[in-house]
Amino acid sequence: MAVYQATTSAPVNIACIKYWGKRDTTLILPTNSSLSVTLSQDHLRSTTTSRADPAFTETKLWLNGKEEDIKSGGRLERCLKELKKMRKERIEDKEPNAPKLSEWNIHVASYNNFPTAAGLASSASGFAALTSSIAALYGLNTFPSSSAKPSIASPSELSLVARLGSGSACRSLFGGFVAWEAGSLPSGTDSLAVEVAPQSHWPTMHALICVVNDAKKGTSSTSGMQRTVETSALLQHRIKHVVPQRMEAIIKAIKEKDFDSFAKITMADSNQFHAVALDTAPPIFYMNDVSRSIISIIEELNRVSLEKTGHLLAAYTFDAGPNAVIYTEEKNVKQIIEIIVRYFPQAESNPFPDPFKLFGGKQPA
Ligand code: PMV
Repeated sequence: MAVYQATTSAPVNIACIKYWGKRDTTLILPTNSSLSVTLSQDHLRSTTTSRADPAFTETKLWLNGKEEDIKSGGRLERCLKELKKMRKERIEDKEPNAPKLSEWNIHVASYNNFPTAAGLASSASGFAALTSSIAALYGLNTFPSSSAKPSIASPSELSLVARLGSGSACRSLFGGFVAWEAGSLPSGTDSLAVEVAPQSHWPTMHALICVVNDAKKGTSSTSGMQRTVETSALLQHRIKHVVPQRMEAIIKAIKEKDFDSFAKITMADSNQFHAVALDTAPPIFYMNDVSRSIISIIEELNRVSLEKTGHLLAAYTFDAGPNAVIYTEEKNVKQIIEIIVRYFPQAESNPFPDPFKLFGGKQPA
């Protein structure tokens, strides 16, 4: 008998223009558009295997080897319902011989190769991998899609499904530079991810992940966002008067490979996101003293670089946790790593690879 199983993986994405706030908490519709870079290396990824079998008596999920409860009407169920609907309407209703996978229970096992829920965007890669794995199981996508065998569901359509799991997950369905358009329809059908530019457009752009603390974060993004939407006046200003201009400007910077503008906007938006968290009642603090020292170092490096060369060297950004992501161009990677490692020597117990090993064991030139 045929085995119906698919394994796919999806990387983490790190936002330069932050998504923070939902206008619809069930459909996960954001209060503003956002933009991110999907990481292309293998260090921060979720890998998911899905299997459908008529003999399965219930649908089950394992996360990092541990079975999880599937909440009725919860995020996983909502994603699964949409994917089943796509399978039924686009394949089973059209091809009478196609197996009725949409009627079978499935088993899903997902692994992260990095700490979960530590402000390293694990829900983004997790729900993106889950969506693409079930989509592959159902024959909805071919990755990469080719003109010979185009996908039955496009990455943007699948991003609508991943969004139902975790907002930022919709952006991990694409590589490179990705925008999540907030949309305006109550149904959410226009709240999807689109590619701004593939990674190959700007291959010299690097993201350095500085793990300040990999423990589970204090305030989840879901409850943090809700509190911010309910209490922050600054958020309303950000939604109306800041993000729309920033989205346009950063898309232009990416298209023109203008690192200075990209860096300025990225740092300003990270700072405003954390200001909005502070403007929440009670306030939310995601950064710690180490995070703030990293900001000071990068600001100082940029000040000196601007004086000497007229250009910026790097951009920091922080999500809902203390870990820093530093964007820089390839020619500056070695200098930035050396400085960060000098100020923050790696802990003996650090489970992450030596930063230079990321470059094949050699220090980048
Ligand atoms: O998708 P969530 O619920 O994990 O929220 C992500 C929020 C930020 O990481 C802080 C910003 C973003 O756009 O990714």
